[in-house]
Amino acid sequence: MDVKNLHTYFYTKAGVSKAVNGVNFSLREGEILGIIGESGSGKSVAVKSILQIVPRPGKIAEGQIIYRGRDLLADKQAIGQVRGKDITMIFQEPMTSLNPVLTIGRQLTEGIRLHLGLSKEEANQRACEFLKQVKITNPEELLTRYPHHLSGGMRQRVMIAMALATDTKILIADEATTALDVTIQQQIIYLLKELRDRLHMSIIFITHDMGVINEIADNTAVMYCGKIQEYASTYEVMKHPRHPYTEALLKAIPSIDAEQQKLSTIPGSVPSLLALPEGCSFSNRCTQCTDRCREEEPKLIRLEDGHRVRCWKYDGQGEVVDS
Ligand SMILES: Nc1ncnc2c1ncn2[C@@H]1O[C@H](COP(=O)(O)OP(=O)(O)O)[C@@H](O)[C@H]1O
Ligand SMILES: [Mg+2]
Repeated sequence: MDVKNLHTYFYTKAGVSKAVNGVNFSLREGEILGIIGESGSGKSVAVKSILQIVPRPGKIAEGQIIYRGRDLLADKQAIGQVRGKDITMIFQEPMTSLNPVLTIGRQLTEGIRLHLGLSKEEANQRACEFLKQVKITNPEELLTRYPHHLSGGMRQRVMIAMALATDTKILIADEATTALDVTIQQQIIYLLKELRDRLHMSIIFITHDMGVINEIADNTAVMYCGKIQEYASTYEVMKHPRHPYTEALLKAIPSIDAEQQKLSTIPGSVPSLLALPEGCSFSNRCTQCTDRCREEEPKLIRLEDGHRVRCWKYDGQGEVVDS
């Protein structure tokens, strides 16, 4: 999939919020792409734009989303064919996607029957197979349960099983492990990696936790104020961060010191999208800010090693790839 020049704006009474303001990225088969950034950076709006489920008053203003040769934004039929099938999304709170009054079995088999055209018994059998794939040990019993009987981690597994049931090619996990405790989060991360290896599924994994990105993603895009500020292999982003924002995010990894449990955060706050700084959107918080940064917005450049960064520090050191 190729996302090209994506712009998604919210048309509010107070003005136009450019939540996603010119985003470009590609996702290969079997790739896990991490998207990281503080709350309000535009991560969710970007992926909701892919599926065209941006809530009002949001609107995709511009861009292309090319999936298997078709532009999902231009081809009305195409998005209907892939949403919830080839491309599925799981959220932080799976309860919002599960129907509380229907059993897990009913919800899973309905999708399977629709998608694969199977009888009830066949669909039940398939459902059990998918639940086993997400490491649920007692699938027959689970099918009889209602969503509120399940823990958060189990619900997330059910959501992943549903995605497998429709033979999903791209799974978008938007803060899907954020609400889970650390052990369960680890299990889900391990499961997603295993499914990628076995089924060559592509995954877009959104989080605001650098530690989690480090564990799961092959490549990482760092988002801030609706734009990608840095993009490289996760190893490169972690070991040789180039953007001051990424450096700050890495420093903000919570210390595991049990006594302190102090979450260091980046000083200052994300500016309102209605009052972005004139130049670089990070300039008001950046410790390396110069006059130019306050006046002129940097373009995204590709450095010699392929690393992409949007910062004046690297002016002239690479090729401009994106305004
Ligand atoms: N329903 C909405 N109405 C108005 N503005 C919105 C709405 N949802 C998101 N936005 C705007 O889009 C920005 C990015 O939101 P979002 O993509 O949810 O951030 P993230 O997922 O990175 O935390 C928000 O800071 C806000 O300005
Ligand atoms: Mg979000």
